[in-house]
Amino acid sequence: MSRSIVVIGLWWCLVVLVLRAEGLGVNWGTMANHKLPPKTVVQLLKDNGITKVKLFDADQSTMSALAGSGIEVMIAIPNAELSAMNNYNRAKEWVRRNVTRYNFQGGVTIKYVAVGNEPFLTSYNNSFLNTTFPALANIQNALNEAGVGDSIKATVPLNADVYGSPESNPVPSAGRFRPDILPQMTQIVQFLGKNKAPFTINIYPFLSLYANEHFPVDYAFFDGVSNPIADNGIQYTNVFDANFDTLVSSLRAVGLGDMEIIVGEVGWPTDGDRNANINYALRFYRGLLPRLAGNKGTPLRPGYIEVYLFGLLDEDIKSVAPGNFERHWGIFKYDGQPKFPMDLSGQLQDKYLIGAQDVNYLPKRWCMLKPDAKDFTKLGENINFACTFADCTPLGYGSSCNTVDANGNASYAFNMYFQAQGQKDTACGFQGLAMVTDQNISQGNCNFMIQIATTSSSTRFAQFFGATLFLLFFSLL
Ligand SMILES: *[C@@H]1O[C@H](CO)[C@@H](O)[C@H](O)[C@H]1NC(C)=O
Ligand SMILES: *[C@@H]1O[C@H](CO)[C@@H](O)[C@H](O)[C@H]1NC(C)=O
Ligand SMILES: *[C@@H]1O[C@H](CO)[C@@H](O)[C@H](O)[C@H]1NC(C)=O
Ligand SMILES: *[C@@H]1O[C@H](CO)[C@@H](O)[C@H](O)[C@H]1NC(C)=O
Ligand SMILES: *[C@@H]1O[C@H](CO)[C@@H](O)[C@H](O)[C@H]1NC(C)=O
Repeated sequence: MSRSIVVIGLWWCLVVLVLRAEGLGVNWGTMANHKLPPKTVVQLLKDNGITKVKLFDADQSTMSALAGSGIEVMIAIPNAELSAMNNYNRAKEWVRRNVTRYNFQGGVTIKYVAVGNEPFLTSYNNSFLNTTFPALANIQNALNEAGVGDSIKATVPLNADVYGSPESNPVPSAGRFRPDILPQMTQIVQFLGKNKAPFTINIYPFLSLYANEHFPVDYAFFDGVSNPIADNGIQYTNVFDANFDTLVSSLRAVGLGDMEIIVGEVGWPTDGDRNANINYALRFYRGLLPRLAGNKGTPLRPGYIEVYLFGLLDEDIKSVAPGNFERHWGIFKYDGQPKFPMDLSGQLQDKYLIGAQDVNYLPKRWCMLKPDAKDFTKLGENINFACTFADCTPLGYGSSCNTVDANGNASYAFNMYFQAQGQKDTACGFQGLAMVTDQNISQGNCNFMIQIATTSSSTRFAQFFGATLFLLFFSLL
């Protein structure tokens, strides 16, 4: 009797361990000029055993592609909609139209609603300071009222700049929320605690390195350092642990040290900065993924941590205000093809992930600077034009195309514009400076890309029709 209980107990532990080891999620952002069809992306997730996804909105086409997949989803309310959610009726409407509508067998497995995205970022100048908490409270209350509050939690993904340690004592155990937002943070954290909702934090070792040229490089990775940070007998050898534990201490300081913490974003970009490259990304993930799979946790929080990698795909129209690397966070390229070997199960089997299947590309045609172009007086302004409407970040210092010559620079810019415009003939003019070629003009590591084809009008109609049927079906429920 007691023995079978032990056996059942062990079995249960095993089940829990197995389930919990499946915790890895990814962020699926869609700020791309030519997007892969949502169905293709969902298949990509499934093919690679990714069971959790974090979105930045609740777009209908994304949601209908996710329906029936069994993938757990965090949907989101963009910052711009936070003030509208300060009205409870509006929040209820949001929940009805974007959450409960998908809540049926074969629908979408929504686990979380992200209320805003890093709303307290210092660069936002407090724009969302007073609207974030009321929006959070209204959304969770609306979820509760709709009867789904036990399984669907509202949370606020925050940037790690909401807390820190004093310069006089820069150790994780001295972590506190930023004094200027302490009242708001305390209110949010207490509300999350009351509703058994997790705290969601985005942690970026890459940004520590980017922001400070004296930052010890090894500390951004997980291979050990020669001079760890000593803190109450704990040796911190990487900034991920140190940062996470600074949050644990900040939560303790407001009396909620046991609150569940989700890492909403973590990753490493592969282009657009001297520290953004495939070798560093490989090194970062080879350190991070085995730790996550082994449920190692951090010194103050050993055990499983739910983590969402940032991100799934490169996004070529993301704002580059934070830096040129912003468009290169994907573990897959813009077209869903893997960039480097990666083992999401943390076993360090150096295999490439499975790429997106059946991707439709535009024809193999590139736009280039005419070899016999003579008058270069207008070249600069034409390159500027191209780079204003297309992504030229790989041309910058330390990036993949930084070593091409001046002509290559011009061709790169022209081609990016031409591809962004769907290879329209008129998009390869540049006042007579450019021409179309069917020769692959890529140079070394600098790939002159061919864009993916956006859906043709017939399939777009089919999709529209499908989506309409899908929605009709939902409205009937
Ligand atoms: C559903 O969510 C999207 C994305 O946040 C938003 O734009 C839309 O207004 C929401 N629908 C309703 C009815 O609130
Ligand atoms: C924040 O303030 C700075 C300096 O006053 C300004 O340059 C920036 O545009 C502001 N940002 C936002 C998002 O309002
Ligand atoms: C937020 O509310 C506080 C207290 O009511 C007020 O002093 C402050 O000006 C408000 N901040 C913003 C950015 O609206
Ligand atoms: C190519 O373009 C980049 C970005 O505009 C610039 O920094 C670089 O100096 C250019 N290289 C040459 C050789 O003109
Ligand atoms: C063009 O050449 C580059 C470098 O050799 C290669 O990686 C890329 O796949 C080629 N592009 C196409 C569309 O064939």
